Amino acid sequence: MNTLNLTLHIWRQRSSQEQGGFKTYKVEANEHMSFLEMLDVLNQQLIEKKEEPVAFEHDCREGICGACSMVINGRPHGPLGGTTACQLHMRFFQDGQEIWIEPFRAQPFPVIRDLVVDRSSFDRIIQAGGYISVNTGQAVDGNTIPIEKDLAAEAFDAAACIGCGACVAACPNGSAMLFVSAKASHLGLLPQGEVENSRRVQSMVHQMDKEGFGRCSNTYACEAECPKEISVENIARLNRWYFKSVLSSEV
Ligand code: SF4
Ligand code: FES
Repeated sequence: MNTLNLTLHIWRQRSSQEQGGFKTYKVEANEHMSFLEMLDVLNQQLIEKKEEPVAFEHDCREGICGACSMVINGRPHGPLGGTTACQLHMRFFQDGQEIWIEPFRAQPFPVIRDLVVDRSSFDRIIQAGGYISVNTGQAVDGNTIPIEKDLAAEAFDAAACIGCGACVAACPNGSAMLFVSAKASHLGLLPQGEVENSRRVQSMVHQMDKEGFGRCSNTYACEAECPKEISVENIARLNRWYFKSVLSSEV
């Protein structure tokens, strides 16, 4: 088992009201640790020295919740494509390496503390329309509406979005188009969600603008950094749906 002696430069910031800056730490990690386990080791050291541990977000630690948002060596979720920070393992780093760790930077994601940012703007976009209205009561049988396999697969790919915000952090304009388009696609592609598509698309796009996210930069940085490899084709679809809904008299 290889041991890695690392130098970490970590963004420390007590609150959104205070200025932050990088602080340097030394940590010893083994190659089988996940990136978050390596941060756990550092925090244990800091606690033992009666210093403030580094605040970072995590929940599932298995790539499904989207909580572990951080920029590692300039890349949201780190150097490995299609991988969340919690699924990134230390074997992808080298002994003696310097690692820079900072929060996602975007105006609609204010820093709460250290690496933790407030991503409730995403929740408000979902609340604005990212759902399907159903009558309560007994669940409808899953096979009541037959769905073509290719369509189901396309909707399922879009549904893989974990709402982490890496697309926003990667975009030079801080655009949330990949996130919004993935959420709109996974609902609107299916017949159950198609009925409310115009209202949904307009509400989500308007809320996205209200939250201060920028326009699509067309750089595809979002797709490149997305840990779930969500395609920019969803953005093209969202644009088509949006224009159609604006031009139609439906909404
Ligand atoms: S589209 Fe990708 S990067 Fe953006 S929130 Fe969803 S999973 Fe994260
Ligand atoms: S902690 Fe849940 S995706 Fe990383």
